[in-house]
Parts: sequence; C-alpha cells; structure tokens
Amino acid sequence: MNASFLLTFFLAVLATLGTLSTMSEARAFFVFGDSLVDNGNNNYLATTARADSPPYGIDYPTHQPTGRFSNGLNIPDIISEQIGAEPTLPYLSPELRGEKLLVGANFASAGIGILNDTGIQFINIIKISRQLQYFEQYQQRLSALIGVAQAKKLVNKALVLITLGGNDFVNNYYLVPFSARSREFALPDYVRYIIFEYKKILRTLHELGARRIMVTGTGPLGCVPAELAERSRDGSCDPELQRAAALFNPQLIQILNELNTDLGSDIYISANAFKMHMDYVSDPAAYGFVTSKIACCGQGPYNGLGLCTVASNLCSNRNLYSFWDAYHPTEKANRIIVNQFMIGSSEYMNPMNLSTILALDAST
Ligand SMILES: *[C@@H]1O[C@H](CO)[C@@H](O)[C@H](O)[C@H]1NC(C)=O
Ligand SMILES: *[C@@H]1O[C@H](CO)[C@@H](O)[C@H](O)[C@H]1NC(C)=O
Repeated sequence: MNASFLLTFFLAVLATLGTLSTMSEARAFFVFGDSLVDNGNNNYLATTARADSPPYGIDYPTHQPTGRFSNGLNIPDIISEQIGAEPTLPYLSPELRGEKLLVGANFASAGIGILNDTGIQFINIIKISRQLQYFEQYQQRLSALIGVAQAKKLVNKALVLITLGGNDFVNNYYLVPFSARSREFALPDYVRYIIFEYKKILRTLHELGARRIMVTGTGPLGCVPAELAERSRDGSCDPELQRAAALFNPQLIQILNELNTDLGSDIYISANAFKMHMDYVSDPAAYGFVTSKIACCGQGPYNGLGLCTVASNLCSNRNLYSFWDAYHPTEKANRIIVNQFMIGSSEYMNPMNLSTILALDAST
C-alpha cells in the first residue's frame, strides 16, 4: 500500500461519514392529506384517483409520471427543496426503508378528505385515520433503525404539512346535486361539523409527536377550471363553492389558535392557501401567466371536464398556465405558493412563515 492509496481511502471514509451525518442532521418532513400533496401513494392502490400516466410528470426531472398531480414538482417537493432535503417518498413505496426513513415520509392520498365518506367513489384510498396509523407504524420502523429516543427526537424536530378539506366539498357535499351530505346539513352546519372533526385529527398529530405543523386552508374552490366548466356561465368563480371556502377557512384559523393556546406553544401554523392561489387567479399576468381559468391539460370548456390524459388538449408551455389539470396547479404556480410559505407576511403564514420557523428552530 502506498501513501496516495491510503490518503484516497482516508478521504473516501471522511466523505462517507460526512454524507451520513448531513443526512441525519437534515430536518425530517412529514406530509398528510390529499392530491395536492400526494407524492405517489395511490400508485400502489387499486383506485381511480391516480396520476401515473402521461402527460403527468412531463416536466418532472425524469419526465415520467410519478403519481404527483402536477406537470412537475408539487408543493411538498418544493418545500423539501427549500429545507435542503430530498423529496419525501410515498409511505407505500418499497424504496422507503433504511436511511431513507430519516428523510421523513409522505402519507398523502389523492381523493381523501376530513370525513371517511369523502372520496368513496375512488374506492381504495388512504383515509386520514389510516394515514395517522401509518405515521405510528413509521415511527416503530424508525425506532428499530435508530432507537426509540432518537426516533422521538427526529419526529419532534420535523416539519409537518397537512392539506385537507377541499375534497369534503368537491368530492362529497357538492359532488352531485342533492348529495347525501347536502340533504343532511345546510352548508354552515356542514362546515362546523367538518371543522369539529378536523380538530381531532390535528390534535392526534400533536399526540403522535409532531411539533411544527403547517396547515393549509382550502384554495378558491369555485375558481378551478373544473368548477368553471361545470357551474359557471361567464367564467367567473362559482359563488357557492367560494362561500364554502369563505366559511371553512376562518373557522380553521380559529381552531388552530385554540389548539396553540391549549398547548401554550406555536405548534400549528396556518397557511392561507386561499390568498396564495387567489393572488394569481385574480391577476394572472402579474405572475407571468396567460390565463388562470383554462387548465393546461384537459378538454371541454376551460379544459375543465374529465381527466388529463394523452388524448387531452395539452399546452406547450406549462410555465404560462397556473392550472395544470382541472383541479391542480402547475409547478410554476406551486413555486409561487411555496415562496409565500417561505417569506409571506402574517396574512399568508400565521403566526410565522417558514423562513422564521427554520431560523428559530436552528437556534434552539
Ligand atoms: C373515520 O373512521 C375512523 C376509523 O374507523 C374513526 O376512528 C373516525 O372516528 C371516523 N371519522 C368520522 C368523522 O366518522
Ligand atoms: C417572513 O419572512 C421574511 C423574510 O424571511 C421576514 O423578514 C418576515 O419578518 C417574516 N414574516 C413573518 C410574519 O414571520
């Protein structure tokens, strides 16, 4: 053995140790919710709510569909990028094992809502109560890898995102005229009911060890191309769905404040998804979009009817469109949204934005 071999060997060992230590120091990220944040769990399920065929993923680094409801990256991916982490793997992915567990996990499943009967038409999806069970199971697997105390620490220090509620309107209450839920409840009573149920879910996340939980309200539900196609005569946002969002979002903020007060700490951070989306919906040109009414991929009025498939109309430049399909933003729009997560004022992120969270937690 000569000296240069030894030196090379020594440097290789150092590099490996360096990689391992940065991996374990990077903050873990856990994601719960619906299609806006699903990184591909539904690919592993027998469900119709899926995004695993072209042109989904057309602008993803691999240019392949992954199960993300986007032309490219989605909101959790861009948050991962911002915190200097790898994208979270879907919990059901066979690749999520060993060291990969340290990155966190994505439990989200397209089609689900706060209520168990939301999205039942999609048959086999991971309801929120199951997502929480998987989070417990994940923690057992993580404990087996790094020990109970370290696992608890990793979860306590992690960043958490939960996006729920939109489907309780579009895939439940307003799914069909005279839906079972709309016959059971007037809209204000329905909103009170789902908020009451959401509060239990959010409390459970804290009980399971989450300590920094970003909670998004619903976007402008009445303005998505699907609703413009089905409910709007003149291209203006549907007032009924806008009313649903206007009832839901303030009550969500109220329960987050109540939970923080009860716990005596800023555990829950509200992200004003309505405003984040509405900015470019009301003034697309200011954000470099040619339209915020017409989806890039789809068919029918506003490209808002049916699914996005290889047979659909497809725009050539996805950066000029805020909606990718009839419901979901393009990567470009997702970047605008995550930028507000990072640096938004208290109107967007309350009580603080993500850059403040990162700075605060780095110093403790
Ligand atoms: C949904 O189902 C779970 C598991 O069966 C149950 O714990 C939960 O209370 C149900 N939620 C509602 C809103 O009925
Ligand atoms: C949000 O982030 C910006 C820039 O990082 C910071 O200056 C500002 O004070 C933050 N706002 C809030 C409300 O935390």
